[in-house]
Amino acid sequence: SSHLLSVDSLSRDDVDHLIRVASRMEPIAQRRKVTRVLEGAVLGNLFFEASTRTRVSFHAAFCRLGGSVCDTTGFTFSSMAKGESLYDTSRVMSGYCDAIVMRHPDQGSVAEFAEATNVPVINGGDGPGEHPSQALLDIYTIDKEFALRGKSLAGAHILLTGDLKYGRTVHSLIKLLSLYEPMRISLVSPPGLEMPQHLIELVASRGHRVETRESLAADYSDVDMVYTTRIQKERFTAEMSEGFSLSRDYTVDKAFMDQRVNDHAIVMHPLPRDSRPDANDLDVDLNADPRLAIFRQTDNGIPMRMAIFATLLQVEDLVERDMRDVPW
Ligand code: CP
Repeated sequence: SSHLLSVDSLSRDDVDHLIRVASRMEPIAQRRKVTRVLEGAVLGNLFFEASTRTRVSFHAAFCRLGGSVCDTTGFTFSSMAKGESLYDTSRVMSGYCDAIVMRHPDQGSVAEFAEATNVPVINGGDGPGEHPSQALLDIYTIDKEFALRGKSLAGAHILLTGDLKYGRTVHSLIKLLSLYEPMRISLVSPPGLEMPQHLIELVASRGHRVETRESLAADYSDVDMVYTTRIQKERFTAEMSEGFSLSRDYTVDKAFMDQRVNDHAIVMHPLPRDSRPDANDLDVDLNADPRLAIFRQTDNGIPMRMAIFATLLQVEDLVERDMRDVPW
């Protein structure tokens, strides 16, 4: 069976297909229609690292397709706390579930888990590795937002900023962006938190123009999308944590968008944003600004995750036939 462990397994056609399926899921995600297409199916939702969006939206997406969910959240509530291996956990869960979503702090651990099972496994984030469903909902969001503005990704100027070293969402996203027609990608991160070189080389080798900077103090007036990320301090080495504080110069706020960007760009962030006073994450002063797409982005997690399940479980063509008006 197939898994979704990395965006490396996706072609441009696969991404286009998932976007089409996600669009067809919108009436259900918007709670106008219901379906029972996954009636009887059980999802195992295994999260060994903190999560709100990924955990809850995968759960809700499976339920909205008519399935049920069982979970074990955190090491404390799973027998991994008693020393059980990923292999044994995988063999056991395969007997209980028809699909599994897993998040784990170690890079490569979800792939190791998936090797021991024939049930489709979706990587919900493996340490600083990848977060493929987030990148797919990000691409879906960009597609929708750009269409509303009469734009396309071809030739666009994309600014990725924040912690590009440990931010798994941007690692998956930059690979998906690289599948599109040539664009310009600006990468801005504090020293020590740069995008891994092999990803820069991959994107450049596919014909995109990649520029790296250490500062947001530049002219971004032709930027179409600003993607900001939280500083992943929990992944820092002790040496890096020592005295680290993010300068306000890296903050995307209303002044930056008004003075250095433009009035038609969108602002995205995978969330969570760090609201602690010294974090200098994406500023709340953009909350009422229509350019801020972050909550449209989280909403898009439901139809895209429904599309991922429907495609992996091969029911995507049955959903439209099974849709009914909400009875409640
Ligand atoms: N974007 C994201 O993965 O959020 P959570 O950590 O809350 O799941």
